[in-house]
Amino acid sequence: MNERVLVLDFGSQYVQLIARRIREIGVYCEIVRHDISPDELSRLEPSALVLSGGPSSVLDPDHPVMNRCILDLGIPILGICYGMQLLANMLAGKVEKGMGGEYGPARVDVTRSENIFDGLNTSLNVWMSHGDHVIEVPKGFHVLASTSACRVAAMGNRSQRIYGLQFHPEVVHTPKGAEILKNFLFRIAGCRGGWTMSRFVEDSVRDIRNRVGSLRVICGLSGGIDSAVVAALINRAIGDQMKAIFVDNGLLRANEREEIRSIFCCDYPLNIHIVDARKEFLSALKGVVDPEQKRKIIGKTFIDIFRKEAAGIDGAKFLAQGTLYPDVIESCSARGGPSVTIKSHHNVGGLPEDLGFELIEPLRYLFKDEVRLLGRELGLPERLLTRQPFPGPGLAVRILGEVTEENLKILRHADLIVQEEVALYQGFKDIWQSFAVLLPVKSVGVMGDERTYANVVALRVVNSLDGMTADWVSLPYDILRRMSSRIINEVKGVNRVVYDISSKPPGTIEWE
Ligand code: XMP
Repeated sequence: MNERVLVLDFGSQYVQLIARRIREIGVYCEIVRHDISPDELSRLEPSALVLSGGPSSVLDPDHPVMNRCILDLGIPILGICYGMQLLANMLAGKVEKGMGGEYGPARVDVTRSENIFDGLNTSLNVWMSHGDHVIEVPKGFHVLASTSACRVAAMGNRSQRIYGLQFHPEVVHTPKGAEILKNFLFRIAGCRGGWTMSRFVEDSVRDIRNRVGSLRVICGLSGGIDSAVVAALINRAIGDQMKAIFVDNGLLRANEREEIRSIFCCDYPLNIHIVDARKEFLSALKGVVDPEQKRKIIGKTFIDIFRKEAAGIDGAKFLAQGTLYPDVIESCSARGGPSVTIKSHHNVGGLPEDLGFELIEPLRYLFKDEVRLLGRELGLPERLLTRQPFPGPGLAVRILGEVTEENLKILRHADLIVQEEVALYQGFKDIWQSFAVLLPVKSVGVMGDERTYANVVALRVVNSLDGMTADWVSLPYDILRRMSSRIINEVKGVNRVVYDISSKPPGTIEWE
């Protein structure tokens, strides 16, 4: 990897956006923990550091900090929001609680450019979201911009190449944000840019070859885009030193196994090994209703199967997975604590501690739309790349309550009807995900002249860019009507259908 920017994560909801904006500008970027050690950071040879925002206050006694020595390494630094306040605090400036904070659109007046505002107007629309503010800049720094509510909206020290922005250049509501980031990366930090997906492929192939050497890799294919892209990437790097395994865990959608077999047989020939583990998964899940427990059991059962498969292969030391950045953030807190774990994605928080493999996760810092671009770069077929995401734990997290064969049968059938009907909708291509959820409640109905007491199915149809936020789709009534009518008439055991109109946040896309 020739050029790399690191974002130190202080827990901002925008941290992933920062990384993405920087990559869009053409500079490779990764997110690291805010408490990374100077040695580890130096080993990564970053061209620049960005300190993210975060929910904490530097005025609280146990606020998150970075190692002080990092400031002396001579690496250009840009602090955003909390990141700027932290810089001010660590370098002996002064931060104070604001009077009620400043949230939403604001106008900053640029008083000094110092390279970071080069080529921009002296008055800029920006997005603010802060309570505290810097009232005194550290020695050697200048105030570069102000708003009516915040005297230090930007500060900088040109000779040390350390800058701070109180506003968020990464969000679309700061229209010139990308220009400001470019100024920091190219004019101040001396980055060259030019990073593209094809560079990502080259770099990843080289890294995988170096890491694996003459050993072997087990690659778990889920049938989704992410693991398929990983398999293609590793196949390019080490060819048949990889064994790709598709596990039929019995929690798949209708026709999934056949579809995967056909894609890797005809569209993108790759030797995949299919393991039938339906019984193992169902018996491991027997009697389990807690969502986190389900996810952990599924994660462990997958690993047990991979271990069994690896046992017969000499040197099978590595397990490759299609873990994406959103899986990582939702499965663990930015500060490494358990407090903000939202759900344990089966391939991150759901993994057993004694894994027995070293993990290879080349997509760990990418978002879904970036993975699709990467898949195209690798020549994977569109029919695979446009598949909807499917959670690793499969239908198990769409059956609320115990996963039984009977429940799976009902849900699989209802889900197939959703797929068929949504496919008739004009806006089909823009839909991120559409599926059915089997609720753990029964309701009374009447069919013919008979009373029924049967299951309720919820429909979930959402739009999203990267799975981090989502909104429900206003499907035309006639499609909803047909789905409901078909499910109630065709799926034995269902007498009521409801439509989920919750966004993410505060909901999540999956129900468990
Ligand atoms: P949530 O429910 O967290 O889902 O809003 C965001 C996206 O992630 C998918 N998802 C998973 N994918 N393993 C995966 O590979 C998992 O454990 C998992 N859980 C949720 C979900 O389908 C949605 O696209």
